[in-house]
Amino acid sequence: MVSKVKIKINDLYKIFGPKGESHVEKVKSGMGKPELLEKHSHVLGLQNINLDIIEGKIQVIMGLSGSGKSTLIRHINRLIEPTAGQIYIDDVDVLAMSDEELMNFRRFKASMVFQKFALLPHRTVLANTIYGLTMQGVEVKDAEERAAHWLKRVGLDGFEDRYPAQLSGGMQQRVGLARALATDADILLMDEAFSALDPLIRSDMQGILLELQEELHKTIVFITHDLDEALRIGDDIAILRDGRLVQQGSSQDIVLNPADDYVADFIKDINRARVLTVGTLPLKKTSAKGITLSNETSLEDAMKALVEAKKDSVTVVKDDKKLGSVSMHDIVHAATRSSETAGEAVTYR
Ligand SMILES: Nc1ncnc2c1ncn2[C@@H]1O[C@H](COP(=O)(O)OP(=O)(O)OP(=O)(O)O)[C@@H](O)[C@H]1O
Ligand SMILES: [Mg+2]
Repeated sequence: MVSKVKIKINDLYKIFGPKGESHVEKVKSGMGKPELLEKHSHVLGLQNINLDIIEGKIQVIMGLSGSGKSTLIRHINRLIEPTAGQIYIDDVDVLAMSDEELMNFRRFKASMVFQKFALLPHRTVLANTIYGLTMQGVEVKDAEERAAHWLKRVGLDGFEDRYPAQLSGGMQQRVGLARALATDADILLMDEAFSALDPLIRSDMQGILLELQEELHKTIVFITHDLDEALRIGDDIAILRDGRLVQQGSSQDIVLNPADDYVADFIKDINRARVLTVGTLPLKKTSAKGITLSNETSLEDAMKALVEAKKDSVTVVKDDKKLGSVSMHDIVHAATRSSETAGEAVTYR
């Protein structure tokens, strides 16, 4: 299947301050964030961002606090105007939209889910959920039916008449998710949407999102500074540092080939056995007597399968085609060695 670019960001720069435009050239010729602040009292928000976000996928944006994640996601629905650069959604130039087009774009095409839930306290769960639909001009009865449907889908059946304060944080965020889904927008913008939740509840929410996504195939831009969350949720991951995109790729790419120390530092504590798949290991051309596994099998599952079968090698297949073989020894080695040396691995796909 050919993947389609849903959101295209080209050469994007954001410099906060009254004369942002006049400093773009300096940033292009190498002036960094501290110098721009010190000499010109402007804040470098984003520089030279080029990112293609694929339709129907979850694009995670990661980075430390202040690296520009919120600034980037807010450009997508033009809550922030860029200092330079272009943004296209479905090949439409977002920056060329009239006020009315922009309003419709925000109402119908891109929904936001906020970290602080942003529910109206004096309205019931149902009334909060129909909010976006009312803005779209949907009749109340129809809106309520649709809202009830989505509340059910996020597991809030029977809570329609409660008020936000009567719900736990996790439940409030489910309302936030139902409200965003009810608008039928094909883009979801989620800025640290799960970050305020306790770990177990957070993990539940990730599960709910992934389950819904299997069926809905929305284009989701998901910001987090939590690597475990990024690896679980993200089809693609982009890492920001000081307003620059330092790396983008699949979780496998990032774990196998961290672009720099900043990225290596992010991934140093991850469970490689769970993230890496046997298909990414250097495979021998000879066939093995052991067991046969798909290239998508995680190293962890491969090790378990080998132990269970009492074998010591795996034949790796992709869509029934033999790719090669790998030994238990090599799997254990790949699962346990540190990320600094990971870059040498040859990637087979
Ligand atoms: N309106 C603004 N005026 C001036 N500087 C700003 C403004 N908004 C953001 N910044 C600066 O731009 C940089 C990026 O901020 P941003 O909020 O995008 O970071 P973030 O990655 O979302 O951080 P966090 O993880 O804390 O939410 C920071 O240095 C921030 O101080
Ligand atoms: Mg932020």
